Amino acid sequence: MSLQQIYSPIAADMLAMDGVIRDRLHSDVVLVRQVAEYIIHSGGKRMRPALLLLTAGAMGYRGSHHLVLAAVVEFIHTATLLHDDVVDESDLRRGHQTANAMFGNAASVLVGDFLYSRAFQMMVTVGSMRVMEVLADATNVIAEGEVLQLLNCHNADVGIDDYLRVIRFKTAKLFEAASRLGGILGNADRALEDGLANFGMHIGTAFQLIDDVLDYSADEAETGKHVGDDLAEGKPTLPLIHVMQHGSTKQAELVRQAIVDGGREAFPAILDAIRATGALDVTREYASREASLARGFLTGLPPSIFKDALLELCAFAVDRAY
Ligand code: IPE
Ligand code: IPE
Ligand code: MG
Ligand code: MG
Repeated sequence: MSLQQIYSPIAADMLAMDGVIRDRLHSDVVLVRQVAEYIIHSGGKRMRPALLLLTAGAMGYRGSHHLVLAAVVEFIHTATLLHDDVVDESDLRRGHQTANAMFGNAASVLVGDFLYSRAFQMMVTVGSMRVMEVLADATNVIAEGEVLQLLNCHNADVGIDDYLRVIRFKTAKLFEAASRLGGILGNADRALEDGLANFGMHIGTAFQLIDDVLDYSADEAETGKHVGDDLAEGKPTLPLIHVMQHGSTKQAELVRQAIVDGGREAFPAILDAIRATGALDVTREYASREASLARGFLTGLPPSIFKDALLELCAFAVDRAY
């Protein structure tokens, strides 16, 4: 199922949220507007706001705070991308030059800060301490995740648990917050709210596992990102960890050295080792397991078109090509 089909129960809300995004991007400082509009209008899958809108829908929420919170979640996501592309020295995102390639690192970092702080201005308007707590905690954990990842770069001794911790922090936490917020808006009791949060955490983990597969296997025209960025940064992601743990001594040594060195020269040889050891399939299996765990946490929701869409999104997170 395409994302557009999956989003059909929330199509009107997604349009309305885009309106909120457009309105709230405004700044009198021209460069802020230029950079923020550049990245936001180049698209993106909008998965985190979709999770918030679908979980709120599944809870029968009937207010208007969901739109502003969906926009908040997308702003936080966008701010992390602006910062992440500087740190990762990436130059392609959403099929266009990254903001750092276009406007420079300084502008990207500063406009990322603008988007974070704008998100905080917006969330205050909802007037709920609990909502602010969830978003403040998530934003803080994402920052920790990116720093943890920085510490792990060029370290070939990073194991699966260290890696999973990074992706839970840097990526899954925002999926978790988005899903939890749908529950909070819909007055879920604490058990159901925690169930939705767990759902988000697991689908977010699956999502990042597949992102790490795509970094070695994607069609760049589909993802709008370059393959090989993770290797270039010496990032020990699961495909590489698998080769180091299960490949031949020679394959393991090749990967260890590539992680330490970074760069792109070793990419073709690393791809051969990845293929020979089935590392991408193993990573996909991890993602599948996370998606199954995610589905299991939806059992507390009553049947609805929103719940069906959440289940479809679990499949998308694993099967996606972009
Ligand atoms: C990119 O997220 C960063 C990761 C967590 C992998 P998305 O793949 O959701 O990016 P967009 O918003 O669709 O461009
Ligand atoms: C996701 O990690 C980073 C964030 C959560 C911001 P990646 O570095 O793998 O994301 P991409 O591949 O650049 O989108
Ligand atoms: Mg990156
Ligand atoms: Mg990536």
